[in-house]
Amino acid sequence: MILDAARPDSIEKAAQIIKQGGVVGMPTETVYGLACDALNENAVRKVFEIKGRDTRDPLIVHVASSKDVTSIAEIDDPVTFKILSERFWPGPLTLVLRKKSIISNVVTANRATVAVRIPSHPTARALLRKTGPLAAPSANRFQGLSPTTAKAVRDELGDKVPIILDAGPCTVGVESTILLLHGGVKLLRPGGIPVEELEEILGRKIEMVAVAKFEKDIQAPGMMSFHYAPKKPLHVFRPHALRVHIDLDPSSVKDWALLCFSKEEALPFHDAGFKETVVLSAKGNLEEASRKFFTSLRRLDQGPCKKIAALLLPDQGLGRALNDRLQKAQHG
Ligand code: TXA
Ligand code: MG
Repeated sequence: MILDAARPDSIEKAAQIIKQGGVVGMPTETVYGLACDALNENAVRKVFEIKGRDTRDPLIVHVASSKDVTSIAEIDDPVTFKILSERFWPGPLTLVLRKKSIISNVVTANRATVAVRIPSHPTARALLRKTGPLAAPSANRFQGLSPTTAKAVRDELGDKVPIILDAGPCTVGVESTILLLHGGVKLLRPGGIPVEELEEILGRKIEMVAVAKFEKDIQAPGMMSFHYAPKKPLHVFRPHALRVHIDLDPSSVKDWALLCFSKEEALPFHDAGFKETVVLSAKGNLEEASRKFFTSLRRLDQGPCKKIAALLLPDQGLGRALNDRLQKAQHG
């Protein structure tokens, strides 16, 4: 059931379900999460089951305050932690820290670390204040598109979720940036906080850990390919490669949709014969593109096209996060 988060009793109802070991669809500024009591192993197992998620893929724990962070994790690098947490929390940054034993191995998929974030969304914060730490992956089926509206959560998970708190579309639209702060500082997933901003405040470059697969030594399973994917085949192109493809086989794109960043980028393909063209931000604004990213992919997935061609965005700021999602979505 979708409940308007602004109604006075909605958050209390959601909190009751969580306290009884249930799950709830929760808006955050990045994407909607499927939240449960992070300290209740059975509830956490339910989240894996509902999503159809591989149990080797650990969950992010959301907390209300820095004090709550220290109740679930050890801070090995307090200087870096202080700089980052003061600047970016609450907000779309997840820090991977050494876990305390209060956090079950089910949450962390047997890792020595736990991923923690303080979300800025008022509904998530109000819920967290009533419940304590919430484990919450994005509220989609495993490897599907992340939901950025309550309706998208329902489309993904149906009535397996008793309550979805509806607070409208997410304002960031792409998942949090994940930074490993254990045995060095490394980027595990580009996301809602641009890496450049992290590098600027830390005064150094941050290494991105290479794409990995489950079977190999994997630091963030979200790094595996074929993740965040629509059901339809999706191919990623640079503009030049798409032009070459169209010139070689002009009729091939008549059943395809084109997803691109700005009007300017769409212009050269105006007469190419795509069934449909979606521009993420007419004027080429990365925040707007990010906000519209998952809803656009979801709409194309439900629409008449047979295949999606996506042009890579500028590889900077939020564009890096969106390109990462596009590359992982590529299949078919
Ligand atoms: O913005 C977000 O982060 C959203 C909202 C709901 O907060 N959550 C989200 O969760 O994107 P999920 O489960 O879809 O993605 C979390 C990623 C996964 O790729 C997981 O592998 C990684 O975080 N992760 C979780 N715990 C980790 C750990 N201890 N070490 C490394 N990676 C971890
Ligand atoms: Mg996810």
